[in-house]
Amino acid sequence: MNVQTMIDVFKDKFPQSGPPVAAAAPGRVNLIGEHTDYNDGFVLPMAINDQIILIGSLRSDRQVHLYSMDFEEASVFSLDAIEASADTPWSNYIRGICVMYQKTTRLQGMNIVLQGRVPQGAGLSSSAALEVAAALLVKTLHGIRISSTALVKLAQSAENEFVGVQCGIMDQFVSMLGKQDHVLFLDCRSLDYELVPAPFSGTRVIVVDSGVKRGLVDSEYNKRRAQCSDAVDLLRDSLPDIQSLRDVELKHLPLINSLPNELAKRARHVVTENARVLQAVNHLRREDITSFGELMNQSHISLRDDYEVSCRELDLLVDMAWSIPGTLGSRMTGAGFGGCTVSLVEESASDAFTTQIKTHYKENCGISPRVFVYQASKGAHILPLA
Ligand code: GLA
Repeated sequence: MNVQTMIDVFKDKFPQSGPPVAAAAPGRVNLIGEHTDYNDGFVLPMAINDQIILIGSLRSDRQVHLYSMDFEEASVFSLDAIEASADTPWSNYIRGICVMYQKTTRLQGMNIVLQGRVPQGAGLSSSAALEVAAALLVKTLHGIRISSTALVKLAQSAENEFVGVQCGIMDQFVSMLGKQDHVLFLDCRSLDYELVPAPFSGTRVIVVDSGVKRGLVDSEYNKRRAQCSDAVDLLRDSLPDIQSLRDVELKHLPLINSLPNELAKRARHVVTENARVLQAVNHLRREDITSFGELMNQSHISLRDDYEVSCRELDLLVDMAWSIPGTLGSRMTGAGFGGCTVSLVEESASDAFTTQIKTHYKENCGISPRVFVYQASKGAHILPLA
């Protein structure tokens, strides 16, 4: 992605504008800790080296003029009456950010050009990247004083309240606070986090897009959230002090197993997954990526059998990965029902891995999967413009 080209487009679309500011934010891949963020639990994502860039400047009125280079499409709205757009759904993430800022700050109009390299609809959080980049751009242009954590919460609330998706906080958090060569260990209750060095020098983080996008994701996602809270309500009979599944421990598994079958399975996933994240962080600290990979495999089995958010295509990709020598671990990543798998593969085996996955998946599913090799990258930042 060439920032100079973006500047040229900006000057072409908005010839009267002053010099623009550029904000970039990355997508993410979650290595372990799935469907734990909205249960106050633990996650371990990393920011990826695909990002979305927004360049913009202030206007003297209250109009926001957007131009998406990916969609070759413009969208305009007034800060006095921000409504969701059905014609330019990509603009809703930026509209939502403006709505959230305007709860406390009166904004000025803006001209903005945007372009993204985060694959869309693949479960790599292109929407969180767009929200975070927009939040950082608006903050910088207006000189708003807001902490990184508050900005993350603002971006999440844009998605929850304006776009209408009940996501947790993981995606926006790592898009903002990720760091090169580090994974982010986040406690989604306290929002305490630690950037853990990623000892992946002899390995590759390989993401494979199944190419499957199920309409089910949102409804099933909300259903899982509701089931987790139902499980907490029932468990409270025996554990009166618990607030969320985060407070339920492995020693309580017999109690969990006595819940109605579906709720037992959902709760079991969350409780064991939280434990796996804590173990995984310890393995990383000791640079034991073999044990780390084993936990990724267990996470997949739990998501497949207990949380039931995998699908045939994701299971197939993971099964294939497990059978390829040099694969240390492989699992579905993100919300599920399609999207991507993430695998940790020895560097020497990564070419063979890619070739075999591409060939076999195409033979079995008729889809040529996109394969991405990602490095842990830095979170949102302002780009210096010449
Ligand atoms: C989506 C949500 C995240 C998280 C994952 C599942 O990516 O946006 O907040 O809940 O699903 O781990």
